[in-house]
Amino acid sequence: MSKKVDVLLGLQWGDEGKGKVVDVLTPRYDLVTRFQGGPNAGHTLEFNGQKYVLRSIPSGIFQGDKINIIGNGVVLDPALFKAEVEALEQSGHPLTKRLKISKKAHLILPTHRLLDQAFESAKGEGKIGTTGKGIGPAYADKISRNGLRVGDILHNFEAKYAAAIQRHKDILNQYNFPFDITELEREWMEGIDTIRKFELIDSEHVINEALQSGKKVLAEGAQGTMLDIDFGSYPFVTSSNTICAGACTGLGVAPRTIGDVYGIFKAYCTRVGSGPFPTELFDATGDEMRNKGHEFGSVTGRPRRCGWIDLVALKYAVMINGVTRLIMMKSDVMDDFEIIRACVAYSIDGVETEQFPYSIEGNVEPVYIELPGWQTDMSQMRSENDFPEEFNAYLNFLEAELGVPITIVSVGPDREQTILR
Ligand code: GDP
Ligand code: IMO
Ligand code: MG
Repeated sequence: MSKKVDVLLGLQWGDEGKGKVVDVLTPRYDLVTRFQGGPNAGHTLEFNGQKYVLRSIPSGIFQGDKINIIGNGVVLDPALFKAEVEALEQSGHPLTKRLKISKKAHLILPTHRLLDQAFESAKGEGKIGTTGKGIGPAYADKISRNGLRVGDILHNFEAKYAAAIQRHKDILNQYNFPFDITELEREWMEGIDTIRKFELIDSEHVINEALQSGKKVLAEGAQGTMLDIDFGSYPFVTSSNTICAGACTGLGVAPRTIGDVYGIFKAYCTRVGSGPFPTELFDATGDEMRNKGHEFGSVTGRPRRCGWIDLVALKYAVMINGVTRLIMMKSDVMDDFEIIRACVAYSIDGVETEQFPYSIEGNVEPVYIELPGWQTDMSQMRSENDFPEEFNAYLNFLEAELGVPITIVSVGPDREQTILR
């Protein structure tokens, strides 16, 4: 079997622009799949003057009749899924024929959201800043073999559900967490009815059969490499493997089927929630990035922390994922900057290193180099032939540092503001 699963994933702390680019690339593929995460994701797409935010549904849903699959590695919240489906249907995008759901995907129960809150508040100062969507508790139940899966709604569901909810209530009581799940449960059960309208599949068979018959698959990552449960800034991470290897376990495809790995990054850097961020800016430049880049969470509306691009972290992400093509987003946000800084090393307790360390908490000082800004409005550009000299110099510098070509440049949120090289 030739290599036909291409993976697109975030190289930073999420929100790199994955949704936008998956939509742009979808015409090249037959199947678009999500392999991990859940409604903690918020993937924004803009075209024809409309803006859409997807959370659990793959971003290939707007391009003709391509099949989209929610894979086994995803955790699905029925209530939020229902809201997402209804919003899409109301805007003229019926989904039932084009979206299929793995029976092995795990369900986020109404009590998982409450547990997320209870665990967060118990952490006090050390809180993760989760999206509060029950992601951690749902994955914890999966790993501790207590989870409920989408396929469970087909057989003896009520008993399995009741046992799980009781277990959660007991934990909430231990945490002295006050709760009333009546309304949450009602919405959740309606969501289960919505899920039942979709084809529930053995997605690993469907995907591998598609590959055998020569079809091409795009796997859409959620979150980013620096939020990976193993390689991110633990414990300030999400609860899944966001890296390329996650596509194999989250879809049931063999490593040798993986083809291109698209690594997507912003020309600067953002992070939402708690945790270390060496290049974070607390000054007017950071504010300018936030305001011009509209850096406010698409799920929670929280302001995103902003800073310069971090090549130590990016090189690490390129290594872990085996990135073959880079995609640079949101360079338009820096169109007015006179000087652009890039972190090329960390100074840790006075010792410089280019290797991403075990921990980036504490005494990590970024070592910067400065490049001249291009000071040109690039948002209307549609060809690399129009790129200003300083912008080409920035691209060349990044490619040399990261050792991988930048094959797509995005100069604005719209589908059209995408330049292929
Ligand atoms: P995702 O989670 O990786 O899909 O990214 P998000 O949708 O959470 O955040 C990316 C934000 O940047 C969205 O609001 C996009 O509409 C917007 N965006 C994407 N690409 C560009 C770009 O090149 N320039 C600008 N200015 N905005 C962009
Ligand atoms: P997309 O797919 C940015 C962050 C949260 C928090 C940490 C853990 O849109 O890029 P969780 O709810 O997963 O337990 O939160 O991870 N986080 C994200 N940050 N983009 C995301 O998704 C994120 N999903 C989770 O802010 O710090
Ligand atoms: Mg997002």
